[in-house]
Amino acid sequence: MEYDWSKVMKPYPPRRIILPNGDEMIVKSMEKSEIEEVCDALIPNLKIHKDWFDLVTAELITEFYLWRENRPMWGLPAESHFNLVGRVNGEVVGVTNGALRDPKTGCSLHTTTLRRGLQIGAYLWPCKLEMYFDVLGVDVVEASAESLIGGRKLFQAYGFTAHPDKKSHFGTMLQTMTKQQWDRIKAGKLVGERI
Ligand SMILES: CC(C)(COP(=O)(O)OP(=O)(O)OC[C@H]1O[C@@H](n2cnc3c(N)ncnc32)[C@H](O)[C@@H]1OP(=O)(O)O)[C@@H](O)C(=O)NCCC(=O)NCCS
Repeated sequence: MEYDWSKVMKPYPPRRIILPNGDEMIVKSMEKSEIEEVCDALIPNLKIHKDWFDLVTAELITEFYLWRENRPMWGLPAESHFNLVGRVNGEVVGVTNGALRDPKTGCSLHTTTLRRGLQIGAYLWPCKLEMYFDVLGVDVVEASAESLIGGRKLFQAYGFTAHPDKKSHFGTMLQTMTKQQWDRIKAGKLVGERI
């Protein structure tokens, strides 16, 4: 089935989040013109060979370049791809991206932080769920927990439903979040304010 993604996709309404050290992080949708700057900023994480930083970063960079070239990623249409970038004083400190299988089904891709210990990943993740459920209006988000840290901080704490018999777009165990579950937990997870 073909969709007119130009009618489905919308920019993320920018959000201001105060980090535990007092820094102000601004979260916005990435434009295609920012791809190279963001990929360059992510390169140091390619050299962190633990906790999945290297692999997740390699996949993120690949997804951004596939998006630039309008090529599908994990079988998902490039036109449905979005990435939210967190910046402190203009510097990239974290990213979280996703795509859609169809206008009502989100397929989460990756989240990573460039500064440890500031909850940047934990703050960006609900921004992505807000994007899916409240901006794009999906019914369900499909995802896979990759690293142990991600599983603990981004999945267990949110009440995702595990489907041990099913595979996600990544080919690993499918986990799902419904709009109903998001509405239950949102008030306690989404922080900061729209600007
Ligand atoms: C998962 C992730 C996005 C979470 O980001 P975050 O919320 O900003 O959290 P951090 O990475 O700073 O910290 C996670 C844990 O690492 C440890 N940690 C914190 N600061 C650290 C530091 N400076 N050095 C090493 N470990 C640190 C702590 O155990 C921390 O847990 P806590 O926040 O409950 O105290 C991030 O760890 C990441 O980018 N991981 C690699 C990619 C990945 O796994 N993505 C998610 C896939 S499901």
